[in-house]
Formats: sequence, structure tokens, C-alpha cells
Amino acid sequence: MTATLLERRDELVAVLGSARSSGGRVGLVPTMGALHGGHLSLVRRAAAEATTVAVTIYVNPLQFGKGEDQDLEHYPRDLDRDLEAASAAGADLVFAPPAAEMWPEPPLTRVHVAGLTDRWEGAARPGHFDGVATIVTKLLALAGPCLAYFGEKDFQQLAVVRRLVADLSLPVEVVACPVVRDPDGLALSSRNARLGAEERTVAPRLYAALLAGRRMVEDEEATDPGDVEAAMRAVLEAEARFEADYAAVVRPGDLSRPEAVAGTLRLLAAARLGGVRLIDNLPATSPHPEEA
Ligand code: PAF
Repeated sequence: MTATLLERRDELVAVLGSARSSGGRVGLVPTMGALHGGHLSLVRRAAAEATTVAVTIYVNPLQFGKGEDQDLEHYPRDLDRDLEAASAAGADLVFAPPAAEMWPEPPLTRVHVAGLTDRWEGAARPGHFDGVATIVTKLLALAGPCLAYFGEKDFQQLAVVRRLVADLSLPVEVVACPVVRDPDGLALSSRNARLGAEERTVAPRLYAALLAGRRMVEDEEATDPGDVEAAMRAVLEAEARFEADYAAVVRPGDLSRPEAVAGTLRLLAAARLGGVRLIDNLPATSPHPEEA
């Protein structure tokens, strides 16, 4: 069945409000459209866990910073295709508001999650996470879901959303869904479509760098996080077309760098390939427990 397409905020509030009052559990999947297998895995998970699944499609200008106007302008938009894909994955409704409906007036408000947003992607894209946090807060306010689904592919975004939900005591459970990869390991992303054929063949090196880092952590080959980071960078930079941005060992909660390789960690990597910036991450657990 085709999901109901809504464009107005008041319709979304009314439809989901009535789903809640008849005892339903609303699951929200916020997206910017150009739906791929990663998004659809979130929709399928929501369909298995919630009684009403709402997918939002909104290319959020607030999260595109200086120098990213082209990315915003050329962001792939194909609502008919997205509606069909979301419906087939189990969405009950798709909320795709025009910009003037989302923000009748340019917003003066920003939601800022301090600290967490300064590093890694936040350092490379100043203001990006304020834009994400602001739109996610607004979507949660409009939809009032019990469950909200986010992919681990954007691991820092997930951490930011978790923190804002905790800090503001928003009554929603954030559900983290694993990264979906192509068979060669490349994490699915709408940016992959912008890779040339040659670039696409070398793109899985980003995943290979993370796997090399994870092996070092799990096999206790390093105690200094810097050594793991250097090894990941070396894998990336062995391919001249890659320009590494960061390769980092972090604590999964606040994304800070640990003193030593110990406990449960997350490996993050970002690199430019041609004109396309790719990000990816993997969990890694050291046999050494983290010191209290
Ligand atoms: O991950 C995304 O697609 C976006 O950052 C989100 C969460 C939909 C906010 O615009």
C-alpha cells in the first residue's frame, strides 16, 4: 500500500496524534530523501517495532554550512521514487513539507549540543550539527514519536541526537541501526552516487582502514590510540586519490579520545575522494578493560 503523503505540519500533528490516542506506537524515521538501502533498513525496523511509521523527507538547509551551497542545491530529490521505496519498506506516511511550510519564518532558534559537536565532523563542518539538532528537535516536537530511528553510519549525529534527547528529557527512545554496506564494504550513502566509476572502485579503502584499526585494537597491537590512528591513515593514504581528513579512536559516548587503547571504542574515519567527502565508522573492543 502506498504511504500517505503529507506536506503540512498540522496534518502530521493531527494524524500522529490520533494514532497515539488510539494506543499506537509511532516510529519516526527522519531523512533528507534520496532513500537507499540504509534508510530502508531503518524503515523496516520501525515497521517491525511500531504501529505507525512516519518517514520525513526534508533537505534541511540549516545543516549545510558555508561552502556547501552546491551540495544543498544538487542534493538528489525524487519524491515519487522515495514514496514508493518508503511504502514498500513499511512506511504508513511520508511527511515531505516544502521549505516555506517547515519554516514559515526564517528560524532564529538553534539547538546547540556543546562539546560533542566541536570535533570530527563538527570541526570539518562548522554549524552542521546545530542545523541537525534544530531540525531533529522540531521533527520530534511535531511527530511526538515513541521511537526515532537513526543510522550508525552518521555516528556523531547519533551521539548528538541521543544527548539532546537526554538533556531535554524528550519522551522518545532513540533506536540506533547498524551501518548497511555494499558487498565490497562501502557504507551506503547518498553521496556514493557522486563518485566516478574509478573512485567507486577505490572507495572501500575507507572501510579497509577501519578494519585495519579494529584488528590492531582487538589483537592488542597498540596501547597508544595514536598508533592505531596512524595505521588507519596509512591504509587510506596508500591510495593517492584519498585525502584523509581524520582517522580517530574515540570513546563511543562523547567521542573524546581515550588516553589508551582499552575497553569499548569506536573508530571514525573521514576522507575526500575526488570531490566527495566520505565518512564511516566501526566498533572495536580491546581485551584491556578501560580503567575507572
Ligand atoms: O541523517 C540525515 O539524513 C539528516 O541529518 C537528518 C537526521 C534527517 C536531519 O536532517
